[in-house]
Amino acid sequence: MWQGVARGIVSGASIVIVLAWVCADALAQTGQLLSFSQSDIRRIRSLGPWPPNLPPDPSNRVSGKPAAIELGERLFFSAALSGNGSMHCASCHVPARTWTDGRARGSGLSELDRNTPTLENLRLQRWYGWDGANDTLWAQSIRPLLDQREMHSSVAAVARTVRQDAQLASMYAKTFGRLPGAGDERVLVNVGKALAAFQETIVSARSPFDAFRDALVAGDLVSAARYPEAAQRGLTLFIGRGNCIACHAGPAFSNGEFHEIGIGYFITGSGVDSGRHGGIARLRSTRLNLLGPYNDDRSRKAAIGTRHLREQQRNFGEFRTPGLRNVVLTAPYMHNGSLATLCDVVNHYSELNEERLHADGERILKPLRLIADEKNDLVAFLESLTGVGRGAAPAERPAACGATVR
Ligand code: HEC
Ligand code: HEC
Repeated sequence: MWQGVARGIVSGASIVIVLAWVCADALAQTGQLLSFSQSDIRRIRSLGPWPPNLPPDPSNRVSGKPAAIELGERLFFSAALSGNGSMHCASCHVPARTWTDGRARGSGLSELDRNTPTLENLRLQRWYGWDGANDTLWAQSIRPLLDQREMHSSVAAVARTVRQDAQLASMYAKTFGRLPGAGDERVLVNVGKALAAFQETIVSARSPFDAFRDALVAGDLVSAARYPEAAQRGLTLFIGRGNCIACHAGPAFSNGEFHEIGIGYFITGSGVDSGRHGGIARLRSTRLNLLGPYNDDRSRKAAIGTRHLREQQRNFGEFRTPGLRNVVLTAPYMHNGSLATLCDVVNHYSELNEERLHADGERILKPLRLIADEKNDLVAFLESLTGVGRGAAPAERPAACGATVR
């Protein structure tokens, strides 16, 4: 990278002088650039580019189609789809709240057991829901319509609404090439596919981290040095000693897989949330999965993962690694909303109780025993994943992280 910068400007003996000038200039005008090794840079590079190139979903033939996106948006905000006409998707996935609700656990017609996740960047996932009970975004979008505690409708009622609402019926015809027919389940699945097409368009904006990552990869050290130093130190922990990148990997900061990180999974009053274990059982038992009749991908390539799934003991209490873009805007955290702030999350990883992890659990996780400055750095890094234009920080900025535990 150093050579790359130098070669573009001069050659031979003056390299050293030019480099010194570039660095001095960076220091004077912006901030300090910490030293990142080649392997650091490789890891940082793997967290982009952003926005990513998102091909249509092969299991959904209307994925990416403008008519489907328009219909999906209309359905998303339509209370007519709920059992008593009082609720729509945006009641819980509130656009102005980064598509979540700010509550610990979702609340529909009654209380739910899990936190409402954001709907950003879902095209980058392959399993949906905290427990991965669905293998497509369209099937996941059907669940809340039928769930008694959420929108509490029925297959027949959703189909009837689409048939009887003249505007919905005509948008449906434009999207799927025919009016909603007599088969209720087919109409319901198509509602799910239109909802998915809309949600796929919800992608978080570029963040200060992305500008840094691109500059570092391109060898533009002057621009890279504009990234706050605390965030650079936090990033160093994230990809290094903290090993967060083992699970929060790739451009969405999620490996899309399931882990247990020592968050309790008892549910108030009613037993346990078995997480991925129950998710696999539910996924295998529904017709609305990639092995079923509604997968539009004739090659069935993506279905292979689902075919080979079996629930195993270790899946108990595992949840899907959440993405971290815009994470500062989506408190509270974890599948049950049990951690209020990013400091609480960092404290959790810092003081992790290994005995609470499964016997055959995550060997990757070790208590990090961070000092207060390191915790603040990690939070500064997580804050730098906020899309530009979303406001620098939420109204209640988290307080500086607590006392050192060393
Ligand atoms: C009552 C609140 C509520 C309503 C209404 C609601 N959701 Fe959700 N949504 C949740 C909760 C809670 C979860 C987490 C569920 C889980 O993992 O078990 C969730 C999960 C999701 C996911 C999975 C996201 C991911 O990261 O995998 C999608 C997609 C989704 N909802 C879309 C919708 C759509 C589309 C609608 C309307 C048809 C809708 N939701 C209505 C609360 C709600
Ligand atoms: C072994 C895989 C793994 C590692 C390593 C890991 N995480 Fe996580 N992370 C997860 C999983 C899984 C969850 C969700 C757990 C749950 O809800 O029960 C999570 C949740 C989070 C959340 C909450 C996000 C939300 O929307 O609720 C944040 C923030 C976070 N991790 C940051 C970090 C940081 C910082 C590190 C490094 C210090 C780290 N993670 C290391 C797997 C991991």
